Amino acid sequence: MEQLSWGRHYVMVEPAHFRVEYVINPFMDPADQPDPELAMAQWRELVATIERCGGTVDALPQRADAPDMVYAMNLGLGLVAEDGTPQVVMSHMRYPQRRMETESAQPWFAERGFATSYVGRDGVGAHLEAGDAFAFGDALVVGYGPRTEELALKHLASDLGIRVRGLRITHPGMYHLDLAFCPLDERRALVCPAALDEASAAALLDLVPEPLVLTEEEALTTFCANSIVIGNVVIMPACPDRVRAQLEEWGFEVVILDLSEFHKGGGSVRCLTNPVDVRIGRDLPSVPGGEVVLPPV
Ligand code: ARG
Repeated sequence: MEQLSWGRHYVMVEPAHFRVEYVINPFMDPADQPDPELAMAQWRELVATIERCGGTVDALPQRADAPDMVYAMNLGLGLVAEDGTPQVVMSHMRYPQRRMETESAQPWFAERGFATSYVGRDGVGAHLEAGDAFAFGDALVVGYGPRTEELALKHLASDLGIRVRGLRITHPGMYHLDLAFCPLDERRALVCPAALDEASAAALLDLVPEPLVLTEEEALTTFCANSIVIGNVVIMPACPDRVRAQLEEWGFEVVILDLSEFHKGGGSVRCLTNPVDVRIGRDLPSVPGGEVVLPPV
């Protein structure tokens, strides 16, 4: 089975100012604050685990006024252009509480040689949160609804010259696609159809030749789709026995990490890590002019 060729280089944000200060998803409760030292220790263990698996991590500092910035997956969509230039399409966050993250992330990426861009003019009318976007099969698969807006899909397709397959997210608890979908290799992925409307669930199951289907309960209570894959290792916050048995049968090794403090803000392994090594032309076919495929209404 062809392993994923991306997922070895991550951008993360060290949790120096992680708090639950407001409520923008159903997991957040300002009365239940993360323990800062435990959060830092859990984050460091995640970094060490990624490095042990052969991945690399670059960390940017957290802004003191941006408590959710630790969920680095949402900073932007990292890609490598066909000519090898690293680029990031910066997110335009749905909620104003997170918009300032981009102001710090953009110069950080630019200083490191990434070409940075935005979808649409100023992002107005086109919210994009990168936790909704994954290369899989012949397209960039993008969840929209709770966070990313449909209009952003059109911009992504034409700006990047790729095919974008949209999926309508309807579940309030799975507000980013990365809570319901995790590519495992070129044919397999963790998939929670309960996050999507019927047509989109069918479209996703069509797209993944060998889906490992998660129940709503599994995805919501264990964050198990919010995992990352490095070669044949799946780094997960939890893994129901049934899911582990299938992963192992497929030849994956499961590594479980405790990320309890970050679950209080509504995110886990994937949300904390942003892969920037998805290559257009290798992991994502280039489609001149771009193309958007939406599920039937
Ligand atoms: N509190 C953050 C938010 O609601 C959590 C983000 C989780 N990140 C993710 N990629 N799903 O925006």
